Amino acid sequence: MHPLQWVLQVQRSLGWGPLASVSWLSLRICRAHSSLSSTTCPSPERQEDGARKDFSSRLATGPTFQHFLRSTSAPQEKLSSEVEDPPPYLMMDELLGRERKVYLETYGCQMNVNDTEIAWSILQKSGYLRTRNLQEADVILLVTCSIREKAEQTIWNRLHQLKALKTRRPRSRVPLRIGILGCMAERLKEEILNREKMVDVLAGPDAYRDLPRLLAVAESGQQAANVLLSLDETYADVMPVQTSPSATSAFVSIMRGCDNMCSYCIVPFTRGRERSRPIASILEEVKKLSEQVLQLIHERDNICKQIHLPAQSGSSRVLEAMRRGYSREAYVELVHHIKESIPGVSLSSDFIAGFCGETEEDHVQTVSLLREVQYNTGFLFAYSMRQKTRAYHRLKDDVPEEVKLRRLEELITVFREEATKANQMSVGCTQLVLVEGLSKRSATDLCGRNDGNLKVIFPDAEMEDVNNPGLRVRAQPGDYVLVKITSASSQTLRGHVLCRTTLKDSSANC
Ligand code: 5AD
Repeated sequence: MHPLQWVLQVQRSLGWGPLASVSWLSLRICRAHSSLSSTTCPSPERQEDGARKDFSSRLATGPTFQHFLRSTSAPQEKLSSEVEDPPPYLMMDELLGRERKVYLETYGCQMNVNDTEIAWSILQKSGYLRTRNLQEADVILLVTCSIREKAEQTIWNRLHQLKALKTRRPRSRVPLRIGILGCMAERLKEEILNREKMVDVLAGPDAYRDLPRLLAVAESGQQAANVLLSLDETYADVMPVQTSPSATSAFVSIMRGCDNMCSYCIVPFTRGRERSRPIASILEEVKKLSEQVLQLIHERDNICKQIHLPAQSGSSRVLEAMRRGYSREAYVELVHHIKESIPGVSLSSDFIAGFCGETEEDHVQTVSLLREVQYNTGFLFAYSMRQKTRAYHRLKDDVPEEVKLRRLEELITVFREEATKANQMSVGCTQLVLVEGLSKRSATDLCGRNDGNLKVIFPDAEMEDVNNPGLRVRAQPGDYVLVKITSASSQTLRGHVLCRTTLKDSSANC
């Protein structure tokens, strides 16, 4: 049996954690199968001699039973700030990236996109740098896919290209290290190391935490692998780093692995047992992403500063009956946070009047929420029971129709008063307006939207173009114009147009 296979077999039968298994793996490769590490392993005698001394000293200071236990402890409980002791055969600084440049290439599914972000997050914390230029890379990592044969063939072909890059690399540079991550590492294990001798690192989908150590082992010229699958690894505490700064979407992974065992599919074997990420850690990540969204809305002129936050009711009791998952207090706190993060933000909401069991006191609470938040736009409805809903089966539609309508009227009145007050703050300001077209009500007026997504109506008149002084133009749909606001109602602003401009050149003053 190939020594590598033996070690893999041993680690499997002993059920050791990744740290334990790979320390064995790399020692074995070096001592028993020098062809795998011929470039950096010392000569056999020196190695024997050194290894004996080394081995005794390592025995004294070496891994304890606890050490093996630690590597199998539930990763969810690990704090991201927790600093691991280095394995006994590596110095702390060998685990650091030492500003080596990593080039990551992702193949296959969305899970691999997320895995790339996780792997990079781990390496970044270890002091690696990221490069998007292959020629600049000191470490090339392919996040691979095994789903169909063609996916693997693509990786084999890529490896041949990278081999040339490795061979051509000038001696003056640190040797290039190549790693195979993800499903193909898991499926083919040592076959990759045997077939492609230039692959230095193998890390299965549950072994990314081990990457700094695997790369440290590879640094010494040995091949290093960790393809152990875990029952509980979800990388819950690893905040994925978005790999493309220009990405328009982000993935929040909520589970890993698969137990379905569809008869054609390799995934249960490459990604292991299905496990879900703890809800708290998903929420934390979503919160961070939401914060980033608020920040972007605040910073960028090309994003409208308007957020729709459907409240449905201002009474925590009714919100509970509606199963909305938040209280009035939590909602108000969120509103304050948004208003602080995006000064001048325009808020809109949905409300239902007369939901099952709504009392007069609940209704008053909704009125007070409308006053407190002062929405710019609102959508208000009388409750109508819908078949099949939970309310239909479990609750009583007990607010009489006339009461529902009276409460709805009151909500509309209050909403209008508050929106008019809020919108009147704009009177006298010059606002940037994105022209939409002719006003529905008048053929001589144009209609557009301001930065709060509020309708602005203004006469269709000739104006100057700020980029072409002297040129008189008429606004067209899609143009940006500056409008001086002269009046406001609860739904619209009115004004007169000053000039055609651009997002960049605009000098709106509120
Ligand atoms: N009755 C009244 N309003 C409803 N909405 C949804 N279902 C009902 C219902 N059964 C309103 C909510 C939602 C909006 C789209 O429609 O306010 O946010």
